[in-house]
Amino acid sequence: MRLVTVDRCQAGISLAKSISHENGSVLLAAGTQLTEQHIARLKKLQVFTIYIEDDDSEGIDIIDSIPEELRVEAVHVITEGLTTIAGLTSPHAPQIQGMMKTSRAIRSFQKIFRDITQCLKGAPAALQLLASTKIHDNFVYTHSLNVSIYACQLAIENGLPLKKIEEVGLGAMLHDIGTMFISPEILNKPGELTDREFAYVQSHTELGFDVLRKVHEVPLPVAHCALQHHERIDGTGYPRGLKADDIHPYAKLLSVVNVFEALTNHHPHRQAMLPHNALEYLYAGSATQFDKKQVQLFRKCIAIYPQGLTVMLNDGRTGIVSKYNFRSAGRPEIRIIRDEEGQKVTPYEIDLAANECLTVEIVKADALLY
Ligand SMILES: [Fe+2]
Repeated sequence: MRLVTVDRCQAGISLAKSISHENGSVLLAAGTQLTEQHIARLKKLQVFTIYIEDDDSEGIDIIDSIPEELRVEAVHVITEGLTTIAGLTSPHAPQIQGMMKTSRAIRSFQKIFRDITQCLKGAPAALQLLASTKIHDNFVYTHSLNVSIYACQLAIENGLPLKKIEEVGLGAMLHDIGTMFISPEILNKPGELTDREFAYVQSHTELGFDVLRKVHEVPLPVAHCALQHHERIDGTGYPRGLKADDIHPYAKLLSVVNVFEALTNHHPHRQAMLPHNALEYLYAGSATQFDKKQVQLFRKCIAIYPQGLTVMLNDGRTGIVSKYNFRSAGRPEIRIIRDEEGQKVTPYEIDLAANECLTVEIVKADALLY
């Protein structure tokens, strides 16, 4: 299977992975032959990339480290949990009942996160670009889940003990809880925000912290994840403008994965970046905005060039990323499908790790389908 952008799809193409809503309900099942109407519908629903089946990519199977059922369950738990905690911290909520519901929500978060940790520890694999093929009903829930998955992988890469991995995970799931108090019209407003609107959106950090520090099952460092995930090493972040060592280590870790997740997903006001571009952005800001060590470690956690991506090499040949290379994240195996002149060839594989002079020159997510 391979990854293509919807706007380059033609009717008749066969879907390799189902397209589903974040609640798990399937809009189009794997194997569906897309019609013009399907393609128009996907565009309307803001699905920009899909996995398709074609002869050139036969045998390239993309397996997610987190099974689909667990993702669906996790989004469900996060949706319920965030709504419950945000709703019950209002002064009008009945106290005892509120505390019980909150405890239950936190326990469900912990259970889900333990399952995620087990998956990631059990089958070490680089995280692939898969989130982008979903239909988003609400950005916050999927974003919180994806950030948790990345944070978990990065916490493991940091060699943190299990207790700390679980705290980071809880912090990741809850980091944007403050956005529940921000009006969706402003949060999802396309185009530029006014200074006033921007300050209002920024207040989600403090609103989240205020909620979480009142929940006694939530350790204080977890509440600090909500407060500090937009702080930057050079003091240019918010809400406090904290610098380097004053920022909690969990928040430093989280700010890297949070930005990566946001950049690689579609938002109302901008298109998604591919992982290698998002990583370049993080590298450009490492040491000034982001903790350099965390950026370097995160590079090892993700597939810089995810399987199924069409790329052009520096010698002009075109191919599809067929295998991830654990020893060298930026040098995967490529299935060559076109020669230097752009002529179709019988597909064959080359390993970039064994061919030092070859590099990925251009990534063609919008590759034309022939
Ligand atoms: Fe945030």
